[in-house]
This record gives sequence, C-alpha cells and structure tokens, in this order.
Amino acid sequence: MKKLTVELNEKSYPIIIKHGLLDDIKSAIEENYKGKGRFFVITNKTIYKLYEKVLANFEHIIQIEDGEECKNFITFEYIIDKLLEAKIERGDCIIAFGGGVVGDIAGFAAASVLRGIDYIQIPTTLLSQVDSSVGGKTGFNHKMGKNLIGAFKQPKLVLIDPKTLNTLDIRQIKTGLGEVLKYAFIEKTATDKDFKFFNFLKNLKNSSSEALYGNLKSHWEEIIYISVSMKASVVSKDEQEKGLRAILNFGHTFGHAVEKITNYKKFTHGEAVAAGMIMAFNVSLKRGHIDEKYYAEAVNLIKNYNLISDDMKNFNKDDIFNAMKSDKKVDHTKIKLVLPVKPFEVQLFDDTKEPLIKDSLL
Ligand code: NAD
Ligand code: GLY
Repeated sequence: MKKLTVELNEKSYPIIIKHGLLDDIKSAIEENYKGKGRFFVITNKTIYKLYEKVLANFEHIIQIEDGEECKNFITFEYIIDKLLEAKIERGDCIIAFGGGVVGDIAGFAAASVLRGIDYIQIPTTLLSQVDSSVGGKTGFNHKMGKNLIGAFKQPKLVLIDPKTLNTLDIRQIKTGLGEVLKYAFIEKTATDKDFKFFNFLKNLKNSSSEALYGNLKSHWEEIIYISVSMKASVVSKDEQEKGLRAILNFGHTFGHAVEKITNYKKFTHGEAVAAGMIMAFNVSLKRGHIDEKYYAEAVNLIKNYNLISDDMKNFNKDDIFNAMKSDKKVDHTKIKLVLPVKPFEVQLFDDTKEPLIKDSLL
C-alpha cells in the first residue's frame, strides 16, 4: 500500500494506492473519510457490469452512458435530476467510480449540486489513476470544444486499486502510459524528490511489447505512486493553473491538435500526447534547448513504449497549426508550448515561430 497527501491547506486530501483495495471498499472509505451522510455512486453502464459486486455495497447508484461523447450537458442534467429526486443533502457525498469521463462529470456534479458537496474519486483506468482523479479539474464538453464547462473542485479522498487495470483493454493501458511517460520528462520541474522515473521506465522497457505490458503489471503501484506524487506536488503549488501547473500539459498542445484534426476518433488521448511530446522535443532541439544525446534517449523511450503508429505521420501542417491556434490554452493568439530545457526539466514558452512549429511535426 502507498499513501500520499495533496497538500492544499484546508482542502488537503489523501490518495491511497493499494492492489485489491476495492475488495473492502467500505473500510477504505470509513478509514479515510469522516463525512456521515449518504453516498451516491456515479458510474457508467460498462463499469457497473464489471464491478457489480463492489458496487453492491452502495444503495444509491447512478449509471450514465459510456463514452467521451456522453460527457455533455445532457448527462450532467441526468445526474443532477437523479440526485435531486433522491433529495440529496449538503452532508451527502458523491463517489465517482470510473475513468476520466465519469470522474470529470461526477466531480462537476459535486461542485454544483446544492452549491457544492463532498466527493470521492475511485478511478478505474490508468489515465484516471495517474492523472484526472487528482487535482480537482472537473467538467464536461461543449459542442465548441472539450472541457469548456467546469470548475476546480478538489475531492476529499482518492482511492486507487491497480487491480482494476486487469479488466482494461490494451488501448486504454496505452493511453494512460502516454501520461505516465510525461511525468518522466517533467520530473525535475514537478518535484524536489528524486524518483529517477526516466531510468525506472527505461529499465522496464527492455523487452518486446507483449512482455512489456506484462512487466508493467507487477509495477503498477509504484508507477501510479510516482506519477500522482508529481501531480500532487504541482497541484499543491499551483492549484488553479496560474503558472507551474501548465507543465502538466507537456505534449498536450500538439496532442490536442492531433486529436482535433482526427475528430477524437483515430487516436487515444495518450497516443496523441506521446506524438505531441516527440514534437515538443523536436522544437526544443531546433531551438537549442537540449542536446542530441538527451533528445535521442527521450524519443527512444517514447517509441519503445509503442505509442506511436505509422499513421501519425504526414499530418497536414496547416491543419495541425490551425488546431493548435484554437487550443483553449492559447493567449492572444500566441501558441504556448511546454518545452524540455534540460534532462527532465521543462519550461513554458510562447515565442516559437510558425515555421519552426510546422517543421517539428512528425
Ligand atoms: P474513459 O473514462 O472514457 O474510460 C475509457 C474506457 O474504459 C471507457 O469505455 C470506460 O467505460 C472503460 N473502463 C473504465 N474503467 C474500466 C475498467 N476498470 N475495466 C474495463 N473498462 C473500463 O477514459 P479515460 O481515459 O479514463 O479518461 C478520459 C477523460 O479524462 C477525458 O474526458 C479527459 O478530458 C479527462 N481528463 C481529465 C483530466 C483532469 O485533470 N480532470 C486529466 C486528463 C484527462
Ligand atoms: N491534466 C492536466 C492538469 O490536471 O492540470
């Protein structure tokens, strides 16, 4: 078992990571959450079927449809209707049980119903375990773009059971790995601790792809712990993304553009982020921030995790560039890029010129 705290003064909360934790979910909650109200679990229909036995511990369960396209106003309204019909009270608590989609929309329901009630995150995908369940970004999508409606609302507790990854398909593991690799490249900027995460991940990957994913299985607790430790450290210093937290978007400006021009269908988020990180390394090398040695090591690590496919090449440069310009993180039309500046250190820049960006695409 591993435990850490997201330090945010009166909003601080624990994260518990334990293989098999869901086998006794009631005790895990009782030991770490002091609220006395009722619990309302929000999950989706796919996860409900897989974890019916675990969820039988709860009386109130709201099941939403599965999929990113359901992270919308209609689902949000459905959740709020169900909560109000059950006469939810200020002292009650929402449990978000699922991947990032469930976590984001359930978190926003908790932020908004009755002007805000407690919620607990129980993430069940790798991506949600290493990223979305921690840090309090909640919300849903609008037809104008992803995550355009939302709020910062920290959970009271995050419970992570890596055993849930056993039921996850390989594509979903890969998308989480995109975010895991990100932490290796931002380690020195994200935390004072010395996890040597790059070497850890490099040593795990001295095998074929099949063997690799088997290899990872016995290290999930460690991998998740190191990843969320970095996320927690960054969020503690900059909860509302006024500065430092932007480093968590390493690879994402390119990545979001790749997702957007392929209608969010062709590649998973993590695959797009992996491609985005290589593009960011290309920019850094051309700008002279990093040397060839680090560049080669970093790009090799990403490629060795098999997150990049051949059809990620030959994107139309104008399409990508235009999609980057419409990213919600763009300020006054300047494209902001998180770029590697030294091994495992990154910095935010807004002065990369259009030809260099276009020249750095895969
Ligand atoms: P997801 O929630 O859609 O889950 C992926 C798929 O896995 C779904 O079909 C889901 O039903 C299924 N699933 C979940 N747990 C499972 C399990 N244990 N076994 C089998 N199947 C399971 O996708 P995701 O990748 O977890 O999250 C993506 C979302 O997270 C996006 O909406 C993104 O915007 C959001 N996100 C939020 C933050 C944040 O800080 N709030 C950060 C990153 C991403
Ligand atoms: N996933 C980026 C953030 O939480 O800030």
